[in-house]
Amino acid sequence: MDLKDVVREKYADAARRVGTDGAGCCSSACCGSASDPITSNLYDRVETARLPAEAVQASLGCGNPTALAQLAAGEIVLDLGSGGGIDVLLSAARVGPTGKAYGLDMTDEMLALARENQRKARVENVEFLKGEIEHIPLPDHSVDVIISNCVINLSAEKERVFAEAFRVLKPGGRLAVSDVVVRGPVPVEIRRSMELWVGCVAGALDETDYVAKLTQAGFEAVSVEPTRIYTIDDARAFLVGHGLDVDTIAPLVREKFMSAFVRARKPAAV
Ligand SMILES: C[S@@+](CC[C@H](N)C(=O)[O-])C[C@H]1O[C@@H](n2cnc3c(N)ncnc32)[C@H](O)[C@@H]1O
Repeated sequence: MDLKDVVREKYADAARRVGTDGAGCCSSACCGSASDPITSNLYDRVETARLPAEAVQASLGCGNPTALAQLAAGEIVLDLGSGGGIDVLLSAARVGPTGKAYGLDMTDEMLALARENQRKARVENVEFLKGEIEHIPLPDHSVDVIISNCVINLSAEKERVFAEAFRVLKPGGRLAVSDVVVRGPVPVEIRRSMELWVGCVAGALDETDYVAKLTQAGFEAVSVEPTRIYTIDDARAFLVGHGLDVDTIAPLVREKFMSAFVRARKPAAV
């Protein structure tokens, strides 16, 4: 199995669990539970009260990009790795009937769940597409805003994802994504264990690399804003289970693993 198959299998399994007792339990850290330090309490209850319970239950992100992306009525939004569809449905409400929200996902089970959630939510300005974020099935210059929630860290071809995002955005379009980011050097083995705890199987980018790769792809006004910084205690049980001496490595990971909101803009004239 290559990495993409591993990711697909993991999220197919997570989609199947929605509505069962193990709902949303997708990563080693068992994300999706009320106490999970990564996925819990990301959304305003008033916002989610209007959504189907299964869309909320399937939420596996690490931020709330729709709240930060400043979506406007009439805009076209694309969610990379849309999962059960929570951010697509929230975006559709923000852009209204004159706008549209696309969700893109490679996992059939997630797409089926998202389409069922769309049906339950009774929204029409939404379309879920099957495909990979490295090969976006939309034309050049067709989207106003790209959002994503904890998906880019799962890709082994991050440059390709950024190039595709740049291609499909209209001139002046925005990228506004939540992702796991590493700040500063961490010994390789400890970094890998922390990444596996967060669920970043392909590895999280260092924030300076994130900025450099987006800039390289052509984006401007790139910024990385931490939204949740993880503590060693969040990951303690997992790291101990992996044979690490948590108290010894604590100073090496302090303030280094975080969820962040990454913003960038495609220049207006390209
Ligand atoms: C961590 S979940 C996040 C789902 C959703 N964004 C959320 O906040 O609940 C990752 C999702 O991205 C999808 N995914 C991962 N890698 C992908 C890729 N290369 N292309 C398309 N979808 C991908 C998975 O199938 C899964 O549904």
